Amino acid sequence: MNGRPRVFVSRRIPSEALVSIADACDADIWEEDLPPARDELLRRVAGCDGVLTLLTDRVDDAFLDAAGSGLKVVSNYAVGFDNIDVAACAARGVAVGNTPGVLTETTADLAWALLMAAARRLPEGDRYVRDGHWKTWGPLLLLGPDVHGATLGIVGFGRIGQAVARRAQGFGMHILYHDVSEVPEGVAMELGASYRPLEGVLAESDFVSLHVNLSPATRHLINANTLAWMKPTAVLVNTSRGPVVDQVALAAALRDGVIAAAALDVTDPEPVPMDDPLVGMDNCLIVPHIASASRATRGRMAEMAAANLLAGVFGEPLPTPVMPPA
Ligand code: DGY
Repeated sequence: MNGRPRVFVSRRIPSEALVSIADACDADIWEEDLPPARDELLRRVAGCDGVLTLLTDRVDDAFLDAAGSGLKVVSNYAVGFDNIDVAACAARGVAVGNTPGVLTETTADLAWALLMAAARRLPEGDRYVRDGHWKTWGPLLLLGPDVHGATLGIVGFGRIGQAVARRAQGFGMHILYHDVSEVPEGVAMELGASYRPLEGVLAESDFVSLHVNLSPATRHLINANTLAWMKPTAVLVNTSRGPVVDQVALAAALRDGVIAAAALDVTDPEPVPMDDPLVGMDNCLIVPHIASASRATRGRMAEMAAANLLAGVFGEPLPTPVMPPA
């Protein structure tokens, strides 16, 4: 590397982090609101020492070829890294970083907000008022299930799943969880959570919240068969990744009363096409992938992503590296 490292930052992120990057590097920052088109992305990364990516940027062999052999680091501005072929990066000696930990509580807050909003039909109530339908107090108006005292099933019981469980404790919920392995007994006891196979969690729960990583094993984990295990009164919340849910099967399940409602922070694809049947359904609440979108959390994610980028371009170990898959 001659002189200052060259980096590409694929979107504006909170400004302190951008300043620290621009102070230390020759930084090319993508200023648009929409991500760079694929061709543009590949052009911009050519010859870079480091790239700060978002989950909308696919990092694969074509990206790595375009960047060239000088690329040292890909720093993802997200905890999830399913947009990155980590094995391909590892094979070329390119370090990969992400932003774990800092968004756990904020994401759990949004999962909780979605659960509450879907249960108590807040978007429908808001539309009802604004559309001028509110004429009187109605004994049967917009009835929904109680959240307090209900059974919550958490699929994926890592940091965020456990943070959702802590919120559920405050609502006196009965908590079930499923993951590839059981958590230590002390953790389960502290959270009052009981392990079940996936079918048990789905069948016994009034609310199901998804917190798994996207992998070949979890793609379409929620499909026509697994939706059929759920109660017809159940509410599904997804703040993990869109492809964890088979969206065609979900729309059919919501239409046919297989389950009662869904609340989604993530869809497949993103953004959700306006002609997707889910968009027209009153019993499906959709928000635009905003689970980590608090000012403080997005600021901390930016600091971490900048720290990983700078460490990588200067040949130091990343503070929060992503491990290549075993
Ligand atoms: C992540 O970090 O993986 C979220 O989906 C965006 O904050």
